[in-house]
Amino acid sequence: MVSGIPVTIKTSAKINSIEQSEDNISEHEFSPGKKQGLYEAIYKRRDMRHFITKPIDPEKLGRILDAAHHAGSVGYMQPWNFLVITDPAVKNKIALNFKNANEEAAQKFSGDRQKLYNSLKLEGIQDAPVNICVTCDRTRFGPNVLGRSTVFETDLFSTCCAVQNLWLAARAEGIAVGWVSILSHDQLKEDLDIPDHIQPVAYLCIGHTEAFYSKPMLETAGWAQRLPVEKLIYYNKWQGTPTDFKVYFPDSTKND
Ligand SMILES: Cc1cc2nc3c(=O)[nH]c(=O)nc-3n(C[C@H](O)[C@H](O)[C@H](O)COP(=O)(O)O)c2cc1C
Repeated sequence: MVSGIPVTIKTSAKINSIEQSEDNISEHEFSPGKKQGLYEAIYKRRDMRHFITKPIDPEKLGRILDAAHHAGSVGYMQPWNFLVITDPAVKNKIALNFKNANEEAAQKFSGDRQKLYNSLKLEGIQDAPVNICVTCDRTRFGPNVLGRSTVFETDLFSTCCAVQNLWLAARAEGIAVGWVSILSHDQLKEDLDIPDHIQPVAYLCIGHTEAFYSKPMLETAGWAQRLPVEKLIYYNKWQGTPTDFKVYFPDSTKND
């Protein structure tokens, strides 16, 4: 192709078209089709609270968990475990934990905000065929982990990276994932026999869904809006404005 001619990747309606001149193409980048797939998983990933009973193919779940296991981790610590929960009796305990924690959480809001909070569906624990508790072993490979000496929580950050991989791989597989954080972790540890040195990081509801939400549910419900990405970028120092280099966003609103 002639240098400088824009390359436009045609994608489904909501995904940004990626335009670039041939000068900017790196020999290491993915083909347009592969890039489109990745961005599609990112932009169409949703936190889901509505599930159908259709069972999950164990091979599919294996691919999703292996994708999670390929996340980066501090010092290659791989501090995660994945507790796969399918027993309704266990789910019932977690659902009760949620109910109690959620009643307490609702008290943090008042008036119309509390009314709106109470109308939100914030979990799918019993509806989802599979729940997964993602944990972090804070002691894995001993007290001295490469890269962890100044920021001790990097093991937890690593576990969150695994969760994000899981979430994106699941979306690509057509599997819905909902993160439930409104839980007492002490109760969760007791209910799941989790030892002291292991910290739960994410409790996930996983299954098929009738339809993925087109926008974050909290946006549709009028609880919160996506912030404009441009407003979140600073240059060279906190709140610094651009001098010699400015990031260009074609139209980030197209991705909602
Ligand atoms: C750490 C974390 C905890 C969350 N906890 C909950 C939760 O307890 N209940 C819930 O309904 N959604 C929960 N969410 C989902 C967020 O509400 C959701 O990611 C956000 O509204 C944006 O929507 P989206 O994920 O569909 O883009 C959580 C998400 C994260 C990353």
